[in-house]
Amino acid sequence: MTLETQEFAFSSAQFEEIRRLLYARAGIALTEHKQSMVYARLARRLRSLNMGDFSDYLRLLHAPQGEAEWQSFINALTTNLTSFFREDHHFQALGELLPLWQREYGQVRLWCAAASTGEEAYSMAITAVESLGGLQIPLRITATDIDTEVLHKAESATYPLSAIDALSLERKRTFFLRGRGAHLGYARVRAEIRALIDFCQLNLLDPHWPLSGPFDAIFCRNVFIYFDKATQNSILRRFAELLRPQGRLFVGHSEVLNQVADLWQPCGRTIYRLRRI
Ligand SMILES: C[S@@+](CC[C@H](N)C(=O)[O-])C[C@H]1O[C@@H](n2cnc3c(N)ncnc32)[C@H](O)[C@@H]1O
Repeated sequence: MTLETQEFAFSSAQFEEIRRLLYARAGIALTEHKQSMVYARLARRLRSLNMGDFSDYLRLLHAPQGEAEWQSFINALTTNLTSFFREDHHFQALGELLPLWQREYGQVRLWCAAASTGEEAYSMAITAVESLGGLQIPLRITATDIDTEVLHKAESATYPLSAIDALSLERKRTFFLRGRGAHLGYARVRAEIRALIDFCQLNLLDPHWPLSGPFDAIFCRNVFIYFDKATQNSILRRFAELLRPQGRLFVGHSEVLNQVADLWQPCGRTIYRLRRI
């Protein structure tokens, strides 16, 4: 089927090819209903590349000179919805566990594995400062995502004031700087909080991850929903190797890990720990 009223012709076969490519590169399994979403997101790429149709675009992805376009292709097709203290119960649980891990290991290490624009990693850092007391805390957060565009936003740490609307006045005052002049209407996360986090690109599908454990906690929230069971299982097994014995894995509200029950046992709302043998 081709939707004739659209600016660019986009056939079902082209949609299928895009689904296949995205699954192979990023593990993202798009449902068949996402054809118009894919069209809307990639039409922007076609316009900025001055291309006449999707066949040209697919040819570019397959051509040697198309290698650079792959990142834009992935950036365009990821869904990056996030917010500060999303699913707040996880941050409450993290706040209770951090002092225990600090006593046990000294330095605490956390991994935010689908960080998007950074709100989740900054919420982890704020939780740590509140829980461990003071800004000079023995903590490092590694925050990763496949999408380079969201990582740039995360590193800039600058958000519209509406993004921090729901935070308490105390949190806003303690952890954010209000923009002035050209930055009016924006808030920036304070430097001391930014300094606790290293952002870097990581594709959860890659056989080699550019980081090493052990971590006390892995936040991998609201990304498993895009993966099929086989991909989820393989990532969950790799997570198990990177977590300390008392560590925790935090997943999104609709992500249930019953398929790897031999490794992970639930210990709270969408929180998991390694199963003791
Ligand atoms: C819906 S956001 C979730 C953000 C945040 N974890 C939260 O729960 O608010 C999903 C994120 O997963 C990232 N993602 C998708 N596929 C990925 C992959 N293969 N490797 C790493 N990150 C991926 C996307 O780029 C996106 O930023």
